[in-house]
Amino acid sequence: MRKVHFVCQNCGYESPRWLGRCPNCESWNTLTEEEVIPKKLSSSKRSTDTYTSPKRLAELSLTPVQRLKTGIDELDRVLGGGIVPGSLLLLGGEPGIGKSTLLLQVCRNLARNKIPVLYVTGEESAEQVRLRAERLNSSLLDIFVLCTISLEDVVHGVNQVNPRILVIDSIQTLTNPALPSTPGSVAQVRDCTAELLKLAKTQCITTFIIGHVTKFGVIAGPKTLEHMVDTVLYFEGETTYNYRIIRTVKNRYGPTNEIGVFEMTDIGLKEVSNPSELFLSDRRRNVSGSVVVATLEGTRPLLVEIQALAAPTPFPLPQRIATGFDLRRLSLLLGILERRAGISTGNRDIFLNVAGGLKLTEPAVDLGVICTLASAIRNTPLPEDTVVIGEVGLAGEIRTVSRIEARLNEAQRLGFKRALLPPNLTKFKKSNIELVPVETINSALKYLGVKK
Ligand code: TYD
Ligand code: MG
Repeated sequence: MRKVHFVCQNCGYESPRWLGRCPNCESWNTLTEEEVIPKKLSSSKRSTDTYTSPKRLAELSLTPVQRLKTGIDELDRVLGGGIVPGSLLLLGGEPGIGKSTLLLQVCRNLARNKIPVLYVTGEESAEQVRLRAERLNSSLLDIFVLCTISLEDVVHGVNQVNPRILVIDSIQTLTNPALPSTPGSVAQVRDCTAELLKLAKTQCITTFIIGHVTKFGVIAGPKTLEHMVDTVLYFEGETTYNYRIIRTVKNRYGPTNEIGVFEMTDIGLKEVSNPSELFLSDRRRNVSGSVVVATLEGTRPLLVEIQALAAPTPFPLPQRIATGFDLRRLSLLLGILERRAGISTGNRDIFLNVAGGLKLTEPAVDLGVICTLASAIRNTPLPEDTVVIGEVGLAGEIRTVSRIEARLNEAQRLGFKRALLPPNLTKFKKSNIELVPVETINSALKYLGVKK
């Protein structure tokens, strides 16, 4: 008899009956009916000589992994110095962000070095891939393309071409015909990934898997695959801006939370090696509600402009709108500003915007946000050669931040003359940058001339 159960397409939670809301990930209307796949029981007993036996740690060989360079420095750095042969990498991101473009560029660079590459696409026709390759100046290279949505074809193709690099574009289109579930369902996506994992590990093929995530993370979330792969990369960015950020969420062979910055051009993705310069390039001088903060993305310091606008509103309920910053944190900081510094928003709408489409989550930008808000409310410009660093506590005190030296080096490199920072960090003297320790938001605002 056909047995069914209900599987959350976001997180993979299984339930014997239908539920409107997934109890695991709390998303609504994501449970769909799937056929239960009977677990295969191994019938024959393994002969004892095929068992692997435990070894002492000291007996294991210590050969350093030879990493393959992708030829894209920003990506190599994010991966921890290149790709590890035989590893499985998941590249997630919203549709249209540039996943196919990036991986085709990787294929191009590797194929130039005579490394056999197989690019499997279930989304585009061979002509479309060719057209894109033309744009990326790689159409004449030895890259094998396979247009299919069947896992069997992929296994067959791999045996034919014997590639070292395999790209699956995308995992949601790949299906195992032996399974009853619909394409793109959690069961299919998991099963195909498991097969690819086997292929990658037994034949030492580095496999890149592309997975789509929507803004709400609904479609068979690549989240369910994260534990199966070695490395998880997410491609972020607003499609209205030209730059894209690639971030490691998990990495068995290197650091996590590292970012690489790219710019989308008409000939593909271009690396941005000095992102701070890019994020500050459109900055206007001498206007109120603008501040530069030094934040850390992974190990990399970034200088970013945060803008604020305080506009009078005729409505009884003023708005609070934040782009690239947590709205609740904005409300909290507005509360601290009113209570501890006596600067009230009055009857004004407050808008906060992180320039360049970046999302800031680090508390070290708190003081910067407070300063730009105060500057906007009082309509007083801040000194433009000053960078502001520090976390703000509920009492309005400035708290310490990590890795101040890296932040100051970046500020110095970009020609900033002064840095406001937490009081206990002044031992990191720099030759060209004056350090101004501040203990409370009041002293910071007085120093910047926003408050008398
Ligand atoms: P694509 O890689 O197809 O995105 P994904 O695979 O993540 O869905 O590329 C998305 C966008 O990039 C598309 O709108 C076209 C644009 N693009 C460029 O601007 N320049 C280029 O050289 C290429 C190949 C694409
Ligand atoms: Mg694509």
